[in-house]
Amino acid sequence: MRLDKLLADMQIGTRKEIKQYIRQGHVTVDKSSQVSPNQQVDPNIQAICCFGKELHYQKYVYYMFYKPQNCVTARQDALHKTVMDYLPESRKALSPVGRLDLDTEGLLIITNDGMLSHNLLSPAKHVSKIYEARIDGPLRTEDIKAFRLGLDIGDNTLTSPAELTVLEHGDSSYVRVAITEGRYHQIKRMFAAIGRQVLFLKRTAMGSLVLDDTLLPGEYRELTTEELSRLKQDEG
Ligand code: URA
Repeated sequence: MRLDKLLADMQIGTRKEIKQYIRQGHVTVDKSSQVSPNQQVDPNIQAICCFGKELHYQKYVYYMFYKPQNCVTARQDALHKTVMDYLPESRKALSPVGRLDLDTEGLLIITNDGMLSHNLLSPAKHVSKIYEARIDGPLRTEDIKAFRLGLDIGDNTLTSPAELTVLEHGDSSYVRVAITEGRYHQIKRMFAAIGRQVLFLKRTAMGSLVLDDTLLPGEYRELTTEELSRLKQDEG
């Protein structure tokens, strides 16, 4: 790959800054600073250093992103900010794993590892997704049962068993829902099927990965090695 692309992927700086660092001799390949931005390098066999520090190139990156409301899970949108507006510019090949509605907030995994993404979303793998939601009225034991048995949300098949837990009772209810599918507007349609409306929706977990409660909406961080290896077991 090109040296400047590798450095940009590793978020060393903007393309302009990277060119400057190279020109000023701050970047070396196998100890030589006679390098150019468009030079082909292989990070697996060459020692690439920047400001004297060896770089360990990662082909794949994995981010946990706290998607805020009013942000579209797409690469481009004419009206709203997209998830990509919050992420490092240099990683153009990044994609979100699955989608959240414009008004839904919470956990989105963002990666350039297409295989992991495909496996986490595959219906055959039954990877769980956990949501918290505010619902516009009280919920009954029958509703919990109906979620467990499967609901007719207007598709050809009933929804797979879902676990509904009421966390707060009252004029409105606060709930946790665990599902193993990812149908379009699934949570909202499940509540609509029992005559209720979702007022607020947040995804808190996907498989073993739980949204870090120190992240604020719009913030992201890389997955830890343990989080990633557990996630890979989920999709295995
Ligand atoms: N279910 C929904 O209805 N919306 C989402 O964003 C995610 C799950």
